[in-house]
Amino acid sequence: MKRAATIFMFILLSAGVFAQVRTDGPVVAIDTKGMTVLLEARGGEPLRYLYIGERLDSADVGAVPAAGAIRMDAYPAYGQGNIRSDALAVTHWDGNMSTEMAVSSVSIENSEDASTACILLKDRIYDFYVKVFYKAFLDADMVETWTELTSLEKKPVLLRRFDSAFLPLRTGNVWASHLYGSWANEGRLVQEPLERGTLLIENKDGVRNSQTSHSEIMFSLDGKPLENAGTVLGAALCYSGNFRLEVVTDDSDYHKFYAGICPDNSSVSLGRGESFRTPELAFTVSGEGLGGASRNFHDWARAHRLAHGDRERKILLNSWEGVYFDVNESGMAEMMSEIAGMGGELFVMDDGWFGEKYPRVRDRSSLGDWKVDRNKLPHGLGWLVDEADRNGIGFGIWIEPEMTNTVSELYEAHPDWIINAPGRDVVQGRGGTQAVLDLGNPAVQDYVFGIVDGLMKECPGIDYIKWDANMSVSSHGSSWLPADRQSELNIRYHQGFAAVCERIRAAYPDITIQACASGGGRANYGVLPWFDEFWVSDNTDALQRIYMQWGTSYFFPAIAMASHISAVPNHTVGRVTPLKFRIDVAMGGRLGLELQPRDMTDAEKMQCRQAIADYKKVRPVVQFGDLYRLVSPYDGLGVASLMYCSKDKSQAVFYWYRTENFYDSHLPRVKMAGLDPDRMYTVYELDRIGESALPFEGRSFSGAFLMSSGLEMPGGFSGRLGGYSSRVLHLVAEPR
Ligand code: GLA
Repeated sequence: MKRAATIFMFILLSAGVFAQVRTDGPVVAIDTKGMTVLLEARGGEPLRYLYIGERLDSADVGAVPAAGAIRMDAYPAYGQGNIRSDALAVTHWDGNMSTEMAVSSVSIENSEDASTACILLKDRIYDFYVKVFYKAFLDADMVETWTELTSLEKKPVLLRRFDSAFLPLRTGNVWASHLYGSWANEGRLVQEPLERGTLLIENKDGVRNSQTSHSEIMFSLDGKPLENAGTVLGAALCYSGNFRLEVVTDDSDYHKFYAGICPDNSSVSLGRGESFRTPELAFTVSGEGLGGASRNFHDWARAHRLAHGDRERKILLNSWEGVYFDVNESGMAEMMSEIAGMGGELFVMDDGWFGEKYPRVRDRSSLGDWKVDRNKLPHGLGWLVDEADRNGIGFGIWIEPEMTNTVSELYEAHPDWIINAPGRDVVQGRGGTQAVLDLGNPAVQDYVFGIVDGLMKECPGIDYIKWDANMSVSSHGSSWLPADRQSELNIRYHQGFAAVCERIRAAYPDITIQACASGGGRANYGVLPWFDEFWVSDNTDALQRIYMQWGTSYFFPAIAMASHISAVPNHTVGRVTPLKFRIDVAMGGRLGLELQPRDMTDAEKMQCRQAIADYKKVRPVVQFGDLYRLVSPYDGLGVASLMYCSKDKSQAVFYWYRTENFYDSHLPRVKMAGLDPDRMYTVYELDRIGESALPFEGRSFSGAFLMSSGLEMPGGFSGRLGGYSSRVLHLVAEPR
């Protein structure tokens, strides 16, 4: 047997560029501004972690082994040695279910914005290869890791498990923070200590992979989670499909964290010469608590993982809660003129505009037939785009391209294009007739690309697309995949989805695209490279949104979180909250409106006009600034508070929401964070309603005072407004 050691070597590419990834003997050191990962890549031996944590001084790097290093396999494989839990499981061509990977070579590649280590592993006896990648960004505290699995074996091999990454976390008082929920309650935060056993976070929806659980997690490594203190490791699996995060706590000194595509019913066959690339796991380490990890995610997202992360988002009106399916030309024109009159910048026509043979009057038909319904819109889409233009605003449109209804011209023409087990009844979703298209099929990919391409060719002026997806993969079967590859259905779907998104972005790089999936079903970094934002939830109730937006902000920046002012009683929960409260909550994300302006009083319109003008003043701070979460709604203190600070700390926006209104409740005074202690900040209230000015209006305070003492928030009008009082303050630093 030829030992892999004989081919061990280091190849350094593009030497000379500042390397965040470097090698020193067998040690591979991966640095970002705030974190270090050390690996031992000794030829012929397993790739091992030595250290994962806050940034090490180069003087300390060499001392890590003496201090006690992790020394665990960085990409453990099943079947030889420790077989308890593994990142990789392969059945080789001859039926052998064991795999034993050893280091073959290391290479480093430097690009403009990142430095990437690639460690090539080879099975000790089979022609099976794994490349393990670690990409460290120059300008973001984030490392992305993924693998590429290649077989050169005689006959196909079967991948039974193929995680993106494995990370060991030192056992101790470690807490996990992650998100769960349901339709209309997405992004709820759960925080729990890691106890003996396995924490399993999975999603097997097939399409909406963040509706009930999320593929992001934070670990507070030294005790109960704190916002602005303690070491936190945060990780996000960047994948749009079924995933599994698994944290195994057993009798060893490390919690074992595995992250990857959910392998259940999804084994992949690799023919000779074929490769499979796993999705990236992005991870960060922060010494500034959960908040520090969130800020790292937000910075990385805006710079590298979110479409147009450097572009301010427009303030829009979406038609859905205003008119639902009752779309018509004069109604749309009226809404456009109203939002323009309030200072908005974009109008989005939601569901209900399409279908010729089967007009979309409710959710029972027409998906797939993306032709304008001339009964509703006699002058077509072009007229609407022109009308938006006449109002000085952009025009956006809703589509749900991955789906069809069995009542549609598309389904009549292509019944074989849907996902469903052969010979079985079609499982039908929303409206009793919805079905998911088989995106693994290249013909379906062409068709889906053609929907966007057709719309854009017909109306090049379209500025924004709301891309929805409202059904799960509910039956397992593809008429396109061969019998021996049916298990690849879910993975092929998401490869197809990625391919279509790539094509769309290549052809239409500038349009804004929102990811909606029955609300927040696609708040995930697997989709965001192609999407500018996501709809946080179909639930627009301001109180419940405080909790959802709080959780979502752990991983996603405000610029990506679509947050709309809607009517009361709220259409989902029936709660009546004051317009000011609804405005103040929506202003915490990407502001929009989702209501029928016709039903508003002049005073309410005026209030929204004022809010939009105020939001424009602070939009860059909200969308590009640093988030500091101050008081959590989950702590049950009766108040929730957060703020955004501009990068240069010259401005900040402070939000204060009263979440409970009980007699004899005593609210905490909120200390601010993220300001420059040495600068003076003048305070201005935003979204002011006819009350007298707050005592501190126009007064200046040092950042030190605001962070050590804070300002007393009068919940003044809580009684009159049913308890839902709120305040938004703009802090402006005096020029130096
Ligand atoms: C989904 C979305 C909503 C709306 C409707 C239209 O439920 O989440 O925002 O677009 O579809 O049918």
